[in-house]
Amino acid sequence: MRRQIIAGNWKMHGSRAENAALVETIVHRLPNSTAEVWVCPPLVYLAELARALGGSRVSLGAQNVCAETQGAFTGEVSAAMLRDVGCSGAIVGHSERRALYGESDQLVARKFAAVLAAGLTPILCVGEQLAEREAGRTFEVVDRQLDAVLDLSGVQAFTRAVLAYEPVWAIGTGKTATPQQAEEVHAHIRGRIAGRDAKIAALVRIQYGGSVKAANAAELFSMPNVDGGLIGGASLKAEEFLAIISAARS
Ligand code: PGA
Repeated sequence: MRRQIIAGNWKMHGSRAENAALVETIVHRLPNSTAEVWVCPPLVYLAELARALGGSRVSLGAQNVCAETQGAFTGEVSAAMLRDVGCSGAIVGHSERRALYGESDQLVARKFAAVLAAGLTPILCVGEQLAEREAGRTFEVVDRQLDAVLDLSGVQAFTRAVLAYEPVWAIGTGKTATPQQAEEVHAHIRGRIAGRDAKIAALVRIQYGGSVKAANAAELFSMPNVDGGLIGGASLKAEEFLAIISAARS
C-alpha cells in the first residue's frame, strides 16, 4: 500500500510571524492520520521552521533547488545546503518555475538528480497547460516531462521520489480537475513508469495538485492512483490544510 502524502507549497507567501502561527497550529492539531505531511516554505524561512518542526511528524521541503553542487552560482542554493538546514526534500519542476523562469525538462531532470544525490526526496511536478489539454496532448506532455527524468536518473530513482500531477489550468484558478480527469492522468503516469519497471511503478506515490481544498480533497484522494496532494493556496490556512490532511486515505 502506498502511504498518502500531503505537502503544502506556500509559494512566495508568509512572514516569520505568520509562519510561526501556521506551523504551531498545524503541529498541535495534526489529525491522527497515517498520511505523511510536508510544508514547503520560502527558502529564507527553512532553517527557522526546521527548528519549529523539530520532533514533530511534519517534514520540511524547499520549493526549488540549484542543479549544481557548489561554486560560483550567485543567488542559488544547493541540495546539500537544504539538507544541512533540515530539509527532507525539494519540489522540482513546478509549473511556475517552468513557465515563469524558463526551466526546461532537462534542467528539471538535473535538479531532480541533484536532490537525490544529496540524499533527499524530490517531488517532481508534471502537468499540461490548458491549450495542450484542449489539443489532446496531455499524455504527450507529461510523458516528455517524465521521460527527461527517467532518461537521466533511471527508473530506480523513483524508489526515492514523489511525483505530483498538476494540470497548469487548475493551479491557483479554483478550477480543480475532476477526480476522473486526475485519475486518468495518474494511471497513465504510473503506466509510463511501469513500462520501465512495474514494481517501482506500483510503489511510487503520485500526488494531485491544482486547487485542492477541504471541500474536494476526499473525493480526489479516494481515486485509486491518487496518493495525496500538493496544496498551494489552501495550505496557507491552517483549518483548510488540516481538513485536507484528514481527508487523506489511510
Ligand atoms: P493551488 O496550487 O493549490 O493554489 O492551485 C497548487 C500548486 O501550485 O502546487
